[in-house]
Amino acid sequence: MRKKIVAGNWKMNTLLGEGVELSKGVAAGLAAVPSDVKLVIAPPFTHLYAVADAIKGTSVSLGAQNCADQKSGAYTGEVSAAMLRSVNCEFVILGHSERREYYGENNDTLNRKMQLALENGLSPIFCVGEKLEEREAGRHFDVVGEQLRSVLFNLTAEQMASVVVAYEPVWAIGTGKTATASQAQEIHAFIRKTLREKFGALADEISILYGGSCKPSNAGELFSQPDIDGGLIGGASLKAGDFLEIAKSY
Ligand code: PGA
Repeated sequence: MRKKIVAGNWKMNTLLGEGVELSKGVAAGLAAVPSDVKLVIAPPFTHLYAVADAIKGTSVSLGAQNCADQKSGAYTGEVSAAMLRSVNCEFVILGHSERREYYGENNDTLNRKMQLALENGLSPIFCVGEKLEEREAGRHFDVVGEQLRSVLFNLTAEQMASVVVAYEPVWAIGTGKTATASQAQEIHAFIRKTLREKFGALADEISILYGGSCKPSNAGELFSQPDIDGGLIGGASLKAGDFLEIAKSY
């Protein structure tokens, strides 16, 4: 059985005190979340150490939003995968469309980041998704297929077993527009089929999360689809109540 995961991507939001409070709020509401749903929170780098402490002893897992594409050394401003692991991160979001779009992240950097994350025992949450014009041109399957092949197809099966995939249509991120449950299911099934080409039956063990304006009012319908194994939540993860409500809608 593949894992059900609800992950909160806080992006560049909250100051330290607010982030610690938010993480405590999530931990405090855990009892009402089905025990087979794994909660992950991914605060900004500056908060990781304190949030790790705030969620210690609970089943909430810590994630980071990015990591360096180099191991260590003279890379001013970067944070390595080993550093993330040293503050108890278990997950790292890689290839988010905002990183691809605003920070020039490409397949080369992503291939290096994936290797470093995996070498350091982190589970990458690898994001894929098409832009609006690509969907309108009917190219979404090609775009997503290419994003998968260029990075995930370079992994061994053993490495792939630690990866979580997130499908996030760029046109739905932070826009209030959500893919319909059937649009999301269609492409999640395509992602699984593509992974099957390279990894065979392992593809059925990989969690594929939906992201893009996922909120309490639409999460239940999205999560009821056979190939949707949870969500990567941006805006709605900034309120503990909403984030927990999403997780409870399983
Ligand atoms: P959103 O962001 O939920 O605010 O649309 C999702 C994401 O980018 O991970």
